[in-house]
Amino acid sequence: MSRNLRDQFTKKAKAAGFLARSAYKLLEIQQRHKIITPGSHCLDLGCSPGAWLQVACQALGPAHKNGCVIGVDVQEVSVPRQYCDRRVQVLQKDAMQLTIADLRHAKAAAGAESEAPKFNVVLSDMCHSTLGVAAADVARSLHLARCAAGVAIGHAGFEGDDGMGASATLPEEGVLLPDGHLVAKLLQGAGSEDLVRELRPHFKKVSWMQPKATRSASREMFVVALGRKQT
Ligand SMILES: C[S@@+](CC[C@H](N)C(=O)[O-])C[C@H]1O[C@@H](n2cnc3c(N)ncnc32)[C@H](O)[C@@H]1O
Repeated sequence: MSRNLRDQFTKKAKAAGFLARSAYKLLEIQQRHKIITPGSHCLDLGCSPGAWLQVACQALGPAHKNGCVIGVDVQEVSVPRQYCDRRVQVLQKDAMQLTIADLRHAKAAAGAESEAPKFNVVLSDMCHSTLGVAAADVARSLHLARCAAGVAIGHAGFEGDDGMGASATLPEEGVLLPDGHLVAKLLQGAGSEDLVRELRPHFKKVSWMQPKATRSASREMFVVALGRKQT
């Protein structure tokens, strides 16, 4: 993406009241795949500064439709004022350290109909700041995407070859409900096709997407896994 186009997305986001241009990435994914529906329970891993929280909450529809968005980030994060309501709650925590109790408390605070640590949608926009060494950046992003997949479908369903998976304190089968969806960011490179291959047996459809708000020259992609199969 040219600097000009990036600036355009940043300006557009600011004018629309979104906290970051990343909002447009989730908006495009949502537009194409309709992953979040009114009343969905969503888990947003790597949620700071909160643009995806804003988009996800809007997709829940009016408050009486219920649902919730639970955001998690290692950094301090607060619920954005615009586009979010009580259904959005945030946890300052490493996604790899999440516990059932964390998710129950957050869902209770969000007023969710069910406090079970279960979600219709797991989103991950988690990333580290890049080191500038392509192979290392790809490996680190893959590690985070595997972590998100592990949180979603658990150790039993997804044994990453680098030993990654859900925290041992989450449900063994993961937090994603049957028919639920997983979206995870990663930099394409060594290992990314393996991740897709490992996810395929667990979902009805797994594909890649590079939203327009992502730099086209960048290797940043989103793996979109739709419709978790019943186990
Ligand atoms: C690109 S930002 C996310 C932007 C966000 N989706 C938005 O739209 O505002 C990536 C985030 O991932 C977070 N992150 C990286 N590793 C993490 C981890 N292990 N657990 C939780 N968050 C993590 C970073 O702190 C950073 O805030």
